[in-house]
Amino acid sequence: MAVIAHRGLRGLPDESQTIDATASVINRCDFASYQNSLATGAEERARSRQHPKGKKTARERIALFVDPDSFTEFGQFQGGNMAHGFSGAAVVTGIGRVAGDPVAVYAQDFSIAGGTLGEVEGDKIIALMDRALELRIPIIAMLDSGGARIQEGVVALSQYGRIFRKTCQASGVIPQISVIMGPCAGGAVYCPALTDFIVMTRENSHMFVTGPEVVRATTGESVSFEDLGGAAVHNFQSGVAHYLAEDEEDALDYTRTLLTYLPPNCDGPARVWDYEEGEDDAVAAASLSAVVPEESKQPYDMVDVIRHLVDYGEFVQVQEFFAPSIVVGFACMNGQSVGIVANQPLHDAGTLDVDASEKAGRFVQFCDAFNVPIVTLVDVPGYRPGTEQEQAGIIRRGAKLIWAYANATVPLVTVILRKAYGGAYIVMGSKSIGGDINFAWPGAQIAVLGADGAVAIVGRSKLAAAKEAGQDVEALRRELAATYTRENVNPYLSVARGELDAIITPENTRSTIVSALRILRSKDRSHPGSRRHGNMPM
Ligand code: HXC
Repeated sequence: MAVIAHRGLRGLPDESQTIDATASVINRCDFASYQNSLATGAEERARSRQHPKGKKTARERIALFVDPDSFTEFGQFQGGNMAHGFSGAAVVTGIGRVAGDPVAVYAQDFSIAGGTLGEVEGDKIIALMDRALELRIPIIAMLDSGGARIQEGVVALSQYGRIFRKTCQASGVIPQISVIMGPCAGGAVYCPALTDFIVMTRENSHMFVTGPEVVRATTGESVSFEDLGGAAVHNFQSGVAHYLAEDEEDALDYTRTLLTYLPPNCDGPARVWDYEEGEDDAVAAASLSAVVPEESKQPYDMVDVIRHLVDYGEFVQVQEFFAPSIVVGFACMNGQSVGIVANQPLHDAGTLDVDASEKAGRFVQFCDAFNVPIVTLVDVPGYRPGTEQEQAGIIRRGAKLIWAYANATVPLVTVILRKAYGGAYIVMGSKSIGGDINFAWPGAQIAVLGADGAVAIVGRSKLAAAKEAGQDVEALRRELAATYTRENVNPYLSVARGELDAIITPENTRSTIVSALRILRSKDRSHPGSRRHGNMPM
């Protein structure tokens, strides 16, 4: 029994000797206490290496993350190495519970060989992913690693290839969340990049394809870890990360919270929690119209609107600091978990740009994969104009949001609060792109262009003639704009054309969305036809 249990040990000078030595240890004390002493020693070593850096050990992180005493570790001593005091591989894997539901977790252990990935670590991670797929439960990765173990060369590299492939196979089947709590360097960054959400701790996490030293050697550029791949860079600029955590506790807390909005797999129904409508909901609904100014160019905070509409005013943003002209995140409406996509007039007037399109597109795609209905709140003047956006690929990258909505089969409920112009109107969950039930507030403006832009084009000859005749051009411009607004912009035209289902008041918005979501619960989501896959604008 002792010999069999230790067959997984590697790196031993002479296997027969070791088995003898191990057996003699087993003779002197019972196997369980021997195991415990190994584990305790390893954990002490891990603490002494991690705590001075302000980091927790892999097992401390897991214990913080899962429900108390719910974690079952797999292969604790698999890959144990003499050099590391038989403490096992540089990754801890197992299954625990979060809010009562099972989740698969792996945490890289930086205290062992820098948390690097070699053959055994790869095997453990892949086995856990297989188990998560078999059980159809989410998988959470806690990353803190020097990447591919240099000494294991191509074996280590190939393990990454296998993890990439498995992550892609699991994508859209089970939710996959990565929490970066230390270095994540080189091609290893693509492990988290292929998952659904990336959480980074503010102080200790870094992600880069090539580190500062290689950058200096190859380009001469001198850059710090922080500026190259710190949590701020990836939350504010690159859009790689979805949440900027204050510390490890915050990172794990956010991850637990995210899970409460998600089903365990793609076949699970959208989450519905018990909720009783109360006085607070009525008060929030009644005060909503005061949050949104009537004047269509006056800014307001869309997050405030969302908080007026959702249960307990709780809205969990995703990628809060990236592409801030659009807001995405999770909330509940009368207990029903929903994904919310909304333009943010506080930033760049809520225009759609390349980053906003990709941010919202990926979020819509995620919600669609995991049965989370989407509520879209629209107040958009259009795509952001200018050479910067055109050259950045607004055509190619903007297409991603269209693709995501057009292919979504999850319930789509859309409300236009103020303006919805041009292509941006169509993209933002309009009826024509696939919206199931669409509403607008009474003052909503829906048109190809806003009045100013439209009059400048279709009224050009009249304005020129007025100028020629020495008439009051500005008065004519105002008159043409008023006529255009009355005849082409008001939402009742859209109702008459069937592009909107109804005009609703701000006060009724929450209850109307809740009813629409209830109606759509049984929406048929079967696949429209056979094809390998569409050619998504990647
Ligand atoms: C083997 C490694 C290692 C590696 C770190 N260690 N990285 N061992 N292979 N890739 C070991 C160190 O030798 C050290 O061992 C222990 O881990 C801790 O490392 P330190 O350097 O002391 O820690 P720190 O100062 O905190 O620096 C951490 C670090 C640095 C920034 C991660 O170690 C580093 O730059 N490592 C190399 C990163 C890298 O380039 N990796 C390859 C990326 S390419 P001892 O015994 O002294 O404690 C990649 C390809 C993926 O991953 C494939 C995709 C297809």
